Amino acid sequence: MRFLMCPPDHYDVDYVINPWMEGNIHKSSQDRAAEQWQQLFHVLKEHAIVDLVTPQKGVPDMVFTANAGLVLGKTVVLSRFYHKERQGEEPFFKEWFLEKDFTVYELPKDLPFEGAGDALFDREGRWLWAGYGFRSELDSHPYLAEWLDTEVLSLRLMDERFYHLDTCFCPLQDGYLLYYPPAFDGYSNRLIEMRVPGAKRIAIGELDAVNFACNAVNVGSIVIVNKVSDELRQRLTQVGFQIVETPLTEFLKAGGAAKCLTLRVTEPVVSEVRAIAAVESRTIRLEGHLLDSGLINQALDVVVEAGGSFQVLNFNLGEQRQSTSAADVKVSAPSHEIMELIMVQLIDLGAVPPPQEICDVHLEVCVQTGVAPEDFYGTTIYPTEVRVQDQWVKVQAQRMDAAIVVAQTPQGLMAECKLLRDLQVDDRVVVGVEGIRTVRKVESREQRNTQEFSFMGSGVSSERRVELVVEQIAWELRQIRDQGGKVVVTAGPVVIHTGGGEHLAKLIREGYVQALLGGNAIAVHDIEQAIMGTSLGMDMKRGVSVQGGHRHHLKVINTIRRCGGIAQAVEQGVLTSGVLYECVRHNVPFSLAGSIRDDGPLPDTEMDLLEAQADYAHLIQGADLILMLSSMLHSIGVGNMTPAGVKMVCVDINPAVVTKLSDRGSIESVGVVTDVGLFLSLLTQQLGKLTNPYQSHL
Ligand SMILES: NC(=O)c1ccc[n+]([C@@H]2O[C@H](COP(=O)([O-])OP(=O)(O)OC[C@H]3O[C@@H](n4cnc5c(N)ncnc54)[C@H](O)[C@@H]3O)[C@@H](O)[C@H]2O)c1
Repeated sequence: MRFLMCPPDHYDVDYVINPWMEGNIHKSSQDRAAEQWQQLFHVLKEHAIVDLVTPQKGVPDMVFTANAGLVLGKTVVLSRFYHKERQGEEPFFKEWFLEKDFTVYELPKDLPFEGAGDALFDREGRWLWAGYGFRSELDSHPYLAEWLDTEVLSLRLMDERFYHLDTCFCPLQDGYLLYYPPAFDGYSNRLIEMRVPGAKRIAIGELDAVNFACNAVNVGSIVIVNKVSDELRQRLTQVGFQIVETPLTEFLKAGGAAKCLTLRVTEPVVSEVRAIAAVESRTIRLEGHLLDSGLINQALDVVVEAGGSFQVLNFNLGEQRQSTSAADVKVSAPSHEIMELIMVQLIDLGAVPPPQEICDVHLEVCVQTGVAPEDFYGTTIYPTEVRVQDQWVKVQAQRMDAAIVVAQTPQGLMAECKLLRDLQVDDRVVVGVEGIRTVRKVESREQRNTQEFSFMGSGVSSERRVELVVEQIAWELRQIRDQGGKVVVTAGPVVIHTGGGEHLAKLIREGYVQALLGGNAIAVHDIEQAIMGTSLGMDMKRGVSVQGGHRHHLKVINTIRRCGGIAQAVEQGVLTSGVLYECVRHNVPFSLAGSIRDDGPLPDTEMDLLEAQADYAHLIQGADLILMLSSMLHSIGVGNMTPAGVKMVCVDINPAVVTKLSDRGSIESVGVVTDVGLFLSLLTQQLGKLTNPYQSHL
């Protein structure tokens, strides 16, 4: 067995390219470094042959020969260093390998890969573990698979302290694996667990990890390492390894230890392995105001956060303020599963394949009522089109969380969103991510600026800011009413408790609301207030609780049940004011959806949730604006069934709820973090001013 090392003649911490180097510039002792290196050299020489490469001035990290390249048999894939500080090492290592008659492969320029620092063979030679995320690019992995004719398993590094795979991962003899799981993402951890049985996985803690216990050189049963805890030593000894500690603290200051200082140059080829790399690549095109809307950042973030990587192939920058840009981006993912995850999100952002790669959607037939094929495409709120028989077909009944069914009808091809429960046997359902695009409106800078009046996430908004946003909303409501449009309100019982009931009732009376959605509670508390003057037993006028008031809502439920329902109670003169009264009086349809916490319920509350959902969906149809007032449950329910393009105003005291509801990535939603009673009172005041512009001067 042979290793390559490089004497530390020029070693020092000259720059910072990893967190270990921070604060350590020129802090390492040359003498101590030389001594520690010699010790390692001697230890290794007891078990293997050690070759040396001549150290060079100006490239202090050349001592870390693990990063020279990746060797298998007489083939080497040379490193392409990520940081320019280390790129100077490349020609010296190349020269050494050529001298020793290696077949040398070089990756394309600008495709970083840092050799055996980021690529470690399973010690049985069954496959290659390859890291990415900090120094090496995922796109280098297919080259490794092809050139070395091996299977490559890609692992994503997440902790910048463990920037190379060999700092947190060490395959050992007999299929054992020493590693630090938190250094990897969830997908990589699953992959490791699938390939290495539990009994062979030696997961270490943070203390050993920061002592670089994984940066070990394994020769047979010997494990040469900087330092290990007693507990780890015991575990390794128990399974037959012998630990040799040799302090390498001076090299730790540069983020390296035993493994980094050595490169195994005799790596036996196992004949039966074959080139496989699960890495998949696709090209997508993005168009729009990519830079100033942040769309390109969002898209690239999606790729990286899911564990993929990207290369921007073309970027045509729109030079004028109004002109749009276009970018072609090559996206790579470590597996098909992750590629689909990324593609689904990129489709949401409006990504399409480049024209030459556009193809039809894949359709699969439903074989069980109410169950979609495994790989079905889940819809979003954005207008969607699917490619069928070489043409783009607009998907009807757009909504979130549905499947797309394509059918040939006498009127031609049809695509529509169907809820899973509505799927029928033989429905043809869109699967995978090919041939799907969402049509995002290109928002100009001016349009986006109107978003400024949305102030979600900023905690409770100042009163002046609430007033400003209310002015805008009042104006919208007025416009919609005057043009015969449709406003739908979802409301929770807090509207009543905060004294907003009378204002909401007024909005209904004055024709600003065309449908009301809520649960049992808004109706119960509204009617309690109308009939008994209390809400949840509190006297709304005096702000004190009334004796026995906690039973009021039950009495009210009983009264309405006796009448047969809310409309009947109005007809019978039992209910004479309030939100629901105004709905009945002004023929504003309402839908009350049941929930597990409902008392009663009222006869009008729909306890069959499928029916309730269908009813809500029906009432939302054609809405221009949805006003969501302090009901997380009903507002989120409504949000999920509303297509993009419908304006949404969400009012809640909790910024998290507002953010969740308003964050639809478009200009159409406005979040208002405030007390709903205050909001409604300001809104009716503002509408009053609009109706009678002179009123404020009177
Ligand atoms: N007696 C009953 O039958 C009864 C009683 C309560 C709730 N429910 C039912 O339970 C379900 C969930 O009820 P929900 O929608 O009230 O609860 P929810 O938790 O879904 O939503 C309440 C929302 O109001 C917000 N909020 C609280 N105080 C506020 C204020 N002053 N101003 C603005 N926002 C404020 C909260 O942050 C929360 O997001 C509904 O279906 C409801 O009908 C039934």
